[in-house]
Amino acid sequence: MALGALASMGRSVLERSYRDLVAGLDERERLLLVGEEEGKVVGMAHVVFSGATNADHRAEVQRVGVATEVRGRGIGQDLMSAVEEAAREHGVTLLWLTTHADSDACAFYEAIGYTRMGTMPNYSRRPDGTLWPGAFYFKELFA
Ligand SMILES: CC(C)(COP(=O)(O)OP(=O)(O)OC[C@H]1O[C@@H](n2cnc3c(N)ncnc32)[C@H](O)[C@@H]1OP(=O)(O)O)[C@@H](O)C(=O)NCCC(=O)NCCS
Repeated sequence: MALGALASMGRSVLERSYRDLVAGLDERERLLLVGEEEGKVVGMAHVVFSGATNADHRAEVQRVGVATEVRGRGIGQDLMSAVEEAAREHGVTLLWLTTHADSDACAFYEAIGYTRMGTMPNYSRRPDGTLWPGAFYFKELFA
């Protein structure tokens, strides 16, 4: 999955972009959650708060990823529970996200209670650079 990047960026550029992101992280704008196993980061998810004055209850979930070797063990689900908990703590009651249409991630989000709104054509590029439709999802966080 792209997770906001392209394969052509290469590992070192991607690594630098994450180091810069962490160094400049402003938690009023974005939270970065990680899943750890034996001291090693095995997953991440970002919560990006809406900047709109009339939508401080809304945030976008971005870059959800679990390391290939530990997928299917509930880590993604645990991360998304942590996302919801952190979102609630910040007064967020509406989460939304996009992922590439027809990817395994669609089944994952549907399994954990996200509602699909629809698909936007040519929304973003796959890692190989091909433009791909985006599937849009939301979840309301009730008290
Ligand atoms: C999608 C992803 C985050 C799921 O993480 P995970 O730790 O493997 O997921 P979990 O083990 O917590 O799965 C929770 C539930 O989601 C569903 N699910 C997860 N992966 C699935 C898959 N590949 N196909 C179908 N359903 C899936 C299942 O219902 C699963 O419950 P079950 O194990 O009881 O059957 C992970 O596969 C990943 O990092 N994929 C690549 C990156 C990506 O696609 N990110 C999302 C883009 S925004």
